[in-house]
Parts: sequence; C-alpha cells; structure tokens
Amino acid sequence: MMTSILWLWTTLALAAVCYSLHSLFFTKRERLPPGPKGLPIIGNLHMLGKNPHQDLAKLAKKHGPIMYMQFGFVPVIIVSSPEAAEKFLKTYDQVFASRPYHEGSWYVGYEQRNLSFAEYGPYWRNMRKLCILQLLSSHKINSFQYMRTQEVGILVESLKQAAFDGASVDLSALISSLGVNMSCLMIFGKKYMDNDFGDRGFKEVIQEVLHVAAIPNLGDYFPLLGVLDVQGITRQFKALAKVFDTFFEKIIDDHLQSSEHKQTKDFVDIMMGIIESGASEFEFDRRHVKAVLLDMLIGSMDTSVTAVEWAISELLRHPEATRKLQKELEEKIGLERIVEESDLEGLEYLDVVIKESMRLHPVAPLLLPHESIKDCTVDGFQIQKKSRIIINIYAIGRDPNIWPDPESFIPERFSGNNIDLRGQDFRLIPFGSGRRSCPGLQLGLTVVRFVLAQLVHCFNWSLADNTEPTDLDMSEVFGLVTSRAKHLNVIPTYRLHK
Ligand code: HEM
Repeated sequence: MMTSILWLWTTLALAAVCYSLHSLFFTKRERLPPGPKGLPIIGNLHMLGKNPHQDLAKLAKKHGPIMYMQFGFVPVIIVSSPEAAEKFLKTYDQVFASRPYHEGSWYVGYEQRNLSFAEYGPYWRNMRKLCILQLLSSHKINSFQYMRTQEVGILVESLKQAAFDGASVDLSALISSLGVNMSCLMIFGKKYMDNDFGDRGFKEVIQEVLHVAAIPNLGDYFPLLGVLDVQGITRQFKALAKVFDTFFEKIIDDHLQSSEHKQTKDFVDIMMGIIESGASEFEFDRRHVKAVLLDMLIGSMDTSVTAVEWAISELLRHPEATRKLQKELEEKIGLERIVEESDLEGLEYLDVVIKESMRLHPVAPLLLPHESIKDCTVDGFQIQKKSRIIINIYAIGRDPNIWPDPESFIPERFSGNNIDLRGQDFRLIPFGSGRRSCPGLQLGLTVVRFVLAQLVHCFNWSLADNTEPTDLDMSEVFGLVTSRAKHLNVIPTYRLHK
C-alpha cells in the first residue's frame, strides 16, 4: 500500500514538471478557444461530475460554443452549438474523424480494432464499409423483421397478462431484456440466458463493460497513471476482455461446427463466411470478427430500447401527446390488430414524438469522442493535432436560442418543418453526423418506432404506487448509453379488441 502511494506521488510530481514544461513551451493559449481556467496537472478534470454532459453545458453557457479545456495532458474542445458542430462534423469532417486512445477499447476491443473506436484510416474505412454492406444494409435489416415481430409479440403478451392481473410491471427491465434478446438473435442466432456467460449473467457482464467504459479513466489522460492503474480499471478491462474472448470463441466454434441450415444468416455466419471466402480486401481474421461482434452487441443492445424508455417516460408525463399518438395509430391501424413494421411509414405524430424525445434525452449526449488528426483552425481558433473533440448534443438540444421553451416536451415543434434527425440538420443529431455518424441508424430507428408504436397502441399506461405524472423522476445516469436513473414502474391496461 505504502509503495503504491509513494509511486503515485512520484508520478504526480513528475507529471507536474512535465505539465509545466509543456505549458511553458508548447501551449499557445492566445490562439486557443476560450475556456475555464484549469488546475496544474489535472487541468479541468475536477469540473466534471456524475453527469458531464450537464456540467459541460453549464460551462459552455459562460465560455461559448467552442470551448477549450484540458483533461490531464489532453487538450479537449467542447462543441455546443449547431453552427460549431457543423464546422467539426461537416466542414472539417476529415480532420476530426479519428478516435482518441481508449483503454477500454484497447483491451476489450482487440487493440481498438472495433469499428467504433478504430482510428481514422484505411482499416476503419474498410471495416465500416463491410459492416454497412454486410450487416446493416436495408436488405439485412429487413431479413430480421420476422424476429423483431416475434420478440415484440412476446413482450406484448406478457404485458397483456399483467394488464389482466392488474399488476404493475418494471417496464425498464422488460424492454431492456427485449433489447438483449433482439440483439442476440440478430448477431448470434440465439438468445443467451443468464448462465451462459461463465458464472455471471450475460446482461450483467455487458452492463459492466458499459459502466466501466464510461468511468473517467485517468489512464486515458495521464499515460503514466495508466501504467500504475491506480483506479484498478485496467485490471477490470483485462478481466472483462478475457470473459468476452472466451464467449466469442465459443460462439464462433459453435457456428463452425453446426450443420444446421439457416434461412436467415446471423452476423457470426456472415463474418465467418467472409473469412472462409477470402473475399475481404483487407486483413480480416478471428480478432476482427470478435471486435465487430462486440461493436454490434454494444451498439444495438441498449441504445434503441433506452430511446424507447425515454419516449414512454415523456408520454406518461404528457397524456395529451399520448392521446394524439393513440388517435393517429387508431386511424391508421384500428383496434382490431397490432402494429406491424409495414405500418410505420407515414405515422407523422410518432415521428415528431421520437424527435422531441431524442432532443431532450439523446442516448449518447456527448456522441463518441472524436480526435483531430492534424492541426486545424476553426473560426479563427487553433485546434491542435490530437485534441479530443466532444460534441455536446445535450447542450444543443436544450439551447433556448434554438428551441423556444427548451425544457418542455412539445412534439408539435417538429410538425410542419423539415428538421430531420439523420445528420443533415445540426440542431438535432442524436446519431451524430458525417463520417463517424452511426451506421446503425436505420436499424435503431426502426426498432424505436416499432416498439414505441406497439406499446402506445396496445396499452394505456399509468404510474405505479400512485405516482402523479408530474412527479415522475427524470434523472439520468451518464454512460456510453445515458439512461433513466430510476426504473419505470407502470401499470398497463390493454386497449385492443383482439
Ligand atoms: C437509437 C439507436 C441508436 C442511437 C441513438 C445511436 C447513436 C450513435 C451515436 C451518437 C454514435 C456516435 C457518432 C459520433 O461519434 O459522431 C454512434 C456510433 C456508432 N453506432 Fe450507433 N446508435 C444507435 C443504434 C445503433 C445500432 C442498432 C448499431 C449497430 C447494430 C449501432 C452501431 C454503431 C457503431 C458501430 C458506431 C461507431 C461508428 C464509427 O465510429 O464509425 N448503433 N451511434
């Protein structure tokens, strides 16, 4: 213990000297964007609390939409307006299209071979092309439509039973399981149960990765501290990497040994087919397959269902909006049958509810971090090579200069205008924009629209424990996916005639 404390102090002292020399000789403060003053060594890290997106939004109000901060030795640029976001994600897209070093992805993502954290370059470009063409194309997404209908049907049946029993349900837990099941079926071809991941539950392990990956890791900002692993995060990542690797190896072996003839090929089948055929134009072996599987799992499992959870929460607080959405669904589908994916086109009110919910509750409020690949001047400010770029879409979504009455849930603000959420309009970019934008947008949006429509069409909802809609706690837990802090306990009433 004493030795590690001694080590820590020695490292900090060394770091202090390096920091002072670095600031003295290399930092050209006068050309940097404005920003809050930092402390020696740690810079501005102490200004981040449990919900960094909220802290950064407050700071940006004072310092402006392009703000300079320092996290340890890393220069960080916080972007908090649509105009500034357009500069970073469109005008100079290529300069800012890389990702910074991320210890979690290094260990768990096969040395950052995963698409989401791969550095910008030919490998990332090839991998992204492969994923979009082979896994996330419209054709591929449609081939899983049957599976989605079946899984959402199972959820509706269990809610229907609860409705007949007059019981309350933990909707957060139920839709989270739906997310896990749909992802596993699409990626691995089967559902995984709680005892399928060593002695720990499948979901528990995935959630640990999401949680640990979101903890501010000193190793990402102070290379020396990374080596000492004072927070114990590296140890945790290494252990998780082992668990995942064993799991993925087993899945791949099972697929290779299986002689089953499948109508719909899952993602493992497709990836292994690419290795066998030698069709990929770049180095592509088991490590790459495992890295992509991890990406698809983490990308798909929690994102869409968390978006549904936020939308349902807002609808619970706004019965008028719920009635309007139910009316739209009744006019289009009636009450004699359930919603099908083919009904989703032209549900205008559903779309504006989703936009409004994603404006207030973006699933990834800071997107994923970007990194500059060279020095660049933006709006007259010097942005150094290897700066970390954080786009705060939470701040953009709640800016009163863009959105009148920004804290209120008013879906109608999107009616009759063409503000879209697919990355063309920088006021609303829940999936990012440009080269690093979300390749799973179409799949994600399909799931959000389908599950939300189904839940609102089939049931009326009231809050359990006599909670008034206005008292519903809307606190957030920041993470790679930012979800509700408190589970949604609700009582369903079935409203269809069949
Ligand atoms: C509602 C659902 C979803 C939302 C809101 C969402 C949001 C995002 C955001 C904000 C980013 C980062 C963009 C940036 O850094 O500029 C991202 C990246 C990514 N998403 Fe999604 N996502 C969703 C669903 C999905 C799904 C279903 C998948 C895959 C099955 C997926 C896979 C990915 C991947 C691989 C990346 C990294 C792309 C790259 O770095 O090139 N996402 N997503």
